[in-house]
Order: sequence, then C-alpha cells, then structure tokens
Amino acid sequence: VFSHVVQAPEDPILGVTVAYNKDPNPIKLNLGVGAYRTEEGKPLVLNVVRRAEQMLVNDQSRVKEYLPIIGLSDFNKSSAKLIFGADSTAIQENRVTTVQCLSGTGSLRVGAEFLARHYHEHTIYIPQPTWGNHPKIFNLAGLSVKPYRYYNPQTRGLDFQGLLEDLGAAPSGAIVLLHACAHNPTGVDPTLDQWEQIRQLMRSKGLLPFFDSAYQGFASGSLDADAQSVRMFVADGGECLAAQSYAKNMGLYGERVGALSIVCKTADVASRVESQLKMVIRPMYSNPPIHGASIVAVILKDRDLYNEWTVELKAMADRIISMRKQLFDALQAKGMAYKLLFTLVIHVCTPGDWSHIIKQIGMFTFTGLNTEQVAFMTREYHIYMTSDGRISMAGLNSRKVPHLADAIHAAVAS
Ligand code: LMR
Repeated sequence: VFSHVVQAPEDPILGVTVAYNKDPNPIKLNLGVGAYRTEEGKPLVLNVVRRAEQMLVNDQSRVKEYLPIIGLSDFNKSSAKLIFGADSTAIQENRVTTVQCLSGTGSLRVGAEFLARHYHEHTIYIPQPTWGNHPKIFNLAGLSVKPYRYYNPQTRGLDFQGLLEDLGAAPSGAIVLLHACAHNPTGVDPTLDQWEQIRQLMRSKGLLPFFDSAYQGFASGSLDADAQSVRMFVADGGECLAAQSYAKNMGLYGERVGALSIVCKTADVASRVESQLKMVIRPMYSNPPIHGASIVAVILKDRDLYNEWTVELKAMADRIISMRKQLFDALQAKGMAYKLLFTLVIHVCTPGDWSHIIKQIGMFTFTGLNTEQVAFMTREYHIYMTSDGRISMAGLNSRKVPHLADAIHAAVAS
C-alpha cells in the first residue's frame, strides 16, 4: 500500500548535516545548521545548564508527572518576562498568555494553528528570504504565505524601501512575520529607527505582528537589546504574537524548549485565547516535555544562575563576533594579495568586498556565494553550508578560518 510513496528530498538545512556526516574526509567542516561549537569545534553544554540539571537531580521532590497542556507555569511566566521585560505593563495587566511549546518551530506552529482557527485574516507575509522552515510551518497550518521584500543583494543590507512598500500594500489585518533580531539567514536587522517606522506603518494598517525570537542574546550579547523590537510593539498597547526558542541562547537544542506568547488587549481576552491554545495543543502532543523547561525555569528564577547565564551567553556572542573579524581579515588579506599579483601582471580588481561579514549580526553570514560556488566549496574543500550561501559563524573556529578563506577565495576566483 505504500509502494507509490516517492523519496522526499533532504531538508535544506538539516540535510547538510546528513551529507557532512557521510563525508569521511577529516578536514570537513559543517557550517550548515545554526549550532554553536567551541573553539575546539565541539558542541557546548553551558556550565549554568549543568548546574541547573544537578539541582534538579538533587531535588527528590521532583516527579515525572504530566505537565499541564500549556506546560510549566514558572517557565511560562519567566519566558514572558525575558522577552517582554520584567516591568512589562502587558504582563502586569495579565494581557499576555504564554504556553510552553516545542522550541521555536513548535511555538510558531501552535501560533499559526491558532491564527488559522481564530483570526479573520489568513495571509501571512514573510521576509524574502527567511528561514526555510517558515513557509512550510505556516502553509501546513492553513495560512496563505506571501513574501515581503527584505534583503537587497546589491547592498547586502536591508531593502527598507521595498519592505515599507510591500507591507504598505498588504491587506489590512494581514499577519506579518518579523525576526526579532539576528535575521536568519541574512544577519541583517532594521535599525531601531527603522523598527519604529515599521511599527507605525503596521499599526496604522492594523497588520498583526508575529515575532520569531530564536536568537535573543546572540545578536548583541545583551538579552534586553535583542528584545527591543518586540518591546516597542508591546509598549504601544497593541496585539502581537511571539515565538521564543531556547535552542541557541541556552544551548538546549535537543531539549526542544520554547514558548509562544500572545499579547491581547485585555486579561479576559487573554484567558479565552489561552483556553483555545489548549484546544490546539491537546490533540497535537497533549502536553510538552518537562526536563528542558525545568532547566530554563531554574536558571531564569535564580539570580546567580541567571547572571552566570548572561556571562556565558555573552561569551558565545563574542566568539561569533570574533569569528566574523577573523574571516573578514583573512579574506581581506587574500584580496590584497590577489590584487597586488594581478596589478603587476594584468589589471584586475579585487575579488570582493567582504565588509558585510562584519556588518551582519547573529549566528549567520549571508556570504553572497551562489549555489555553484557552494557546491564547489563542498566538493573541493569539504566545507558544508546551505546552498543559499549562508554560513553558520557559530560553527567556525580560529584553526579553520584559513581553510574557509582559501575555499571562498577559490570559489570566487573559479
Ligand atoms: C538553522 O537555521 O540552522 C536553525 O534554526 C536550525 C534549524 O532547525 O533549521
């Protein structure tokens, strides 16, 4: 009965790891999936996470009972404070409902399912480009997905005019997906001034913001700074949705810990919205897993652990920033050598301006390399990355920078 089933393609991001794992060459380097690695190229479990886990193990009163449908209460409260701010009026007025979900993807999906059932407008505008899973999540929930201009390949920066035009032309009430910070895959974020203009436009047209916050603390190293876009929209008293992930900022990738918050106009509405979120979640997976959310709740509630977390988070963000600098310097040096060589022989200009590597922020650099150049780097240099030219800076380390610079240089020159 299943003989008609055709082979599905590998996932454009997670499939890169599958290909990487099959490569026997020891020089191989995986810059595909956004997963943090140490300078030694190893996955990192934060010390603060180990400490929290130890506290959980030592606490004999802890049991493995089912969580409520909406998850761990302490986790939900602390997550809302983390993203909206401890002094958020919306939280004080009980206008926010927060439910624990399965990381960022699960939070987006639960939010999308809720909107498909209870929101009058079924079109969601997503930035062009965006994380490859976004259109699939929203389509499968029954929303209709449309792009809005975001990235300008010429400037390798924000197409702000295009963004304003496209959102300005969107039907009133449409949903708009916004990356809270560290846009994936481009690493290009609006400035605060631009965020304010986006907010004004969206509110004037009644567009509904749906934030994806997967990198809070990773963009700048500051949890507050990276939540400013979201907080601007909440401060104006209007509605919004926010999906949070603890995969990157606490390194809890495989624990699948995240939260969906819906900010409503009144406490009464928030309570009814929460009751309907339970109707979405129960037939999907009944209730979320307990372990990862308990780790987060312990860390967010204990001042010492929280402070330790911010230090470790900043160290990860700083290491990524330092990788940007090192790669930029290595490519600059190669460009200079290349230019010198060719100006002596024939008149050829430098093979590229790589300043976007240090201007872009967050986990990823959108290199501008095309599909053929990426394939060349994988084939000849065993460097794995997504075919759109995105590289995970978090997967790089100082020892591998020269190898990557060689590969990029050869790919551009080929
Ligand atoms: C990524 O973009 O690499 C991460 O968000 C991981 C994923 O699930 O795609």
